[in-house]
Amino acid sequence: MKIKYLLYSSLFIFAFSSCIKDQVETEIHSYSPEEYATLTKALDLPQEPLDYMLELPAHLGSSRVNSEKHQATLGRVLFYDKRLSKNEKVSCSSCHLAERAFADDKKFSEGFDGGHTKRNSLALGAFPSFNAYYGFGGTRMFWDERAATVAEQSDLTMRDPIEMGIEDLDVLGDELMQIDYYRTLFDKAYPANKFGGFISNKDKILQALDAFVSSIGSYSTKFDEGWAATGNPNSSFANFTQQENEGKQLFNTHCASCHNLGPGFSTTITNANNGLDMVYEDKGIGEISGRSTEMGLFKVPMLRNVALTAPYMHDGRFETLEEVVEHYNSGVKNHPNLHEELKAGNEAKHLNLTQGQKDALVAFLHTLTDTESLAQVKYSDPFKK
Ligand code: HEC
Ligand code: HEC
Repeated sequence: MKIKYLLYSSLFIFAFSSCIKDQVETEIHSYSPEEYATLTKALDLPQEPLDYMLELPAHLGSSRVNSEKHQATLGRVLFYDKRLSKNEKVSCSSCHLAERAFADDKKFSEGFDGGHTKRNSLALGAFPSFNAYYGFGGTRMFWDERAATVAEQSDLTMRDPIEMGIEDLDVLGDELMQIDYYRTLFDKAYPANKFGGFISNKDKILQALDAFVSSIGSYSTKFDEGWAATGNPNSSFANFTQQENEGKQLFNTHCASCHNLGPGFSTTITNANNGLDMVYEDKGIGEISGRSTEMGLFKVPMLRNVALTAPYMHDGRFETLEEVVEHYNSGVKNHPNLHEELKAGNEAKHLNLTQGQKDALVAFLHTLTDTESLAQVKYSDPFKK
C-alpha cells in the first residue's frame, strides 16, 4: 500500500511540477473563443479557469496546497455529472452536498438504483485542507480506511453496484469523449504534448476527481478566528462567549486527543473504537483485516462543519450533537477494543457532565462551522440549469 501511495504521489508531483514549469504555456492554453463557446453551451464556467490553490493560515501551518486548475475544473464538472452513474441518476454531489460540508443528511445514502449505502456519507469539507490532511501523512479514506487516495476511492465508488454501478471506467471515458465540451476539458487538463498516450481516460477521470476533491478546504470559522488572534488554541478566545470557551476547554480535555483540529495534521489516533456497542454488526476495519483487535474500529472523523453533517457516526445512529455528547457522557460501552482514551481503569469512562457542560460542548462544536469557504463558486455545480 505504502509503495502504491508513493508511486501515486510522485506521479502527482510530476504532473504539478511540469505545470508550474509551463506557466507561460498555461496562458496559451486558456480557452479559444470557439472552445469557450462550446463549454458555455452546457456549463457556467468563467473565461479563465478558477484558481484551486489553498494557502493555509499561519495557525494551521501556512502550507500551500495546489490542485492544477484545469484538472480541478474537469474534476468539478465530473463531480456534478450524473453520467458518472449507470442510469444517470446520481453524481458524486448527490451524496456529497456543498451546503452540508459535502456530506448528506441521510442515515444511509441512496445509490443510482434506489439501494442504500452500508454507511453514513463522510463529509469532504470537514478538513482545513483535504489534501493537507490526506496527502502528506498517508492517512487513509473511508470509515474502514480501505482507500489510500481519492482516485482509489472514486474507482471503488463508481464501480460499486449500489452507489454508481459503472462497469468499465474506460468505456465511460470514451463516452464522455464523444461530448464536445468534455473533449475541451480533457484537452486542457491533459494536453497531448505533455500527457499524450501515457494516461488512460479512466486514469484522467480519477486524477481529475482527485484534483477537485483534494482542493476542498474550510477554515473560516469562529474557532479559527479566535485561534489566529491568540495563536494558542488552549487560551481563552476573546471572540467566544463564556459558554463557548468552557466548551472548548472540555473539548481539549476529553476529545482533542482523537479529534485533532490542527495544525500539523499529524493525527496520532486516526482510528479507534469509541464504545458505540458491545457487539458491532458492521465491524469496520476488522471486517477487512480479520484481526480481533480491530473489530469495531472506525476512522476518527474530522469535525470542522460537524453541525452541518447530521446524522452522526458510521451508521448515522445519532441525529443531533446533543445525542453524540450524551454518548460520551453516559453511553460509552466497555467493548474489548475500546480505546484507552475512553477508559477509566478497566471500565468505560463516563464523563458525568452537568447539563451546562454538555450545552457548552455543543456550543463549541457549533463554532467549527464555516459557511463561507464551501459556498465558493469553484466548489459549486457548474452545469447550466
Ligand atoms: C450513493 C452515495 C455516494 C456517491 C454517489 C458517492 N459517495 Fe462518496 N461516500 C459515500 C459514503 C456512504 C461514504 C462513506 C463510505 C464508507 O466509508 O464505507 C463516502 C466516502 C467518500 C470519501 C472518503 C472521505 C474520507 O474522509 O474518508 C470520498 C473522498 C468520497 N466519498 C468522494 C466521492 C466522489 C469523488 C464521488 C463520485 C465519484 C463519490 N464520493 C460518490 C457516498 C457516496
Ligand atoms: C478514542 C478516540 C475518541 C475520543 C476521545 C472521542 N472520539 Fe468522537 N469519534 C471517535 C471515533 C472513532 C468516531 C467514529 C466512530 C464510529 O462511527 O463508529 C467518532 C465520532 C464522533 C462524532 C461523529 C462525527 C461524524 O461525522 O459522524 C462526533 C461529533 C464526535 N465523535 C465528537 C466527540 C466529542 C465531542 C468527544 C469528546 C467528548 C469525542 N468525540 C471523543 C473517536 C473518539
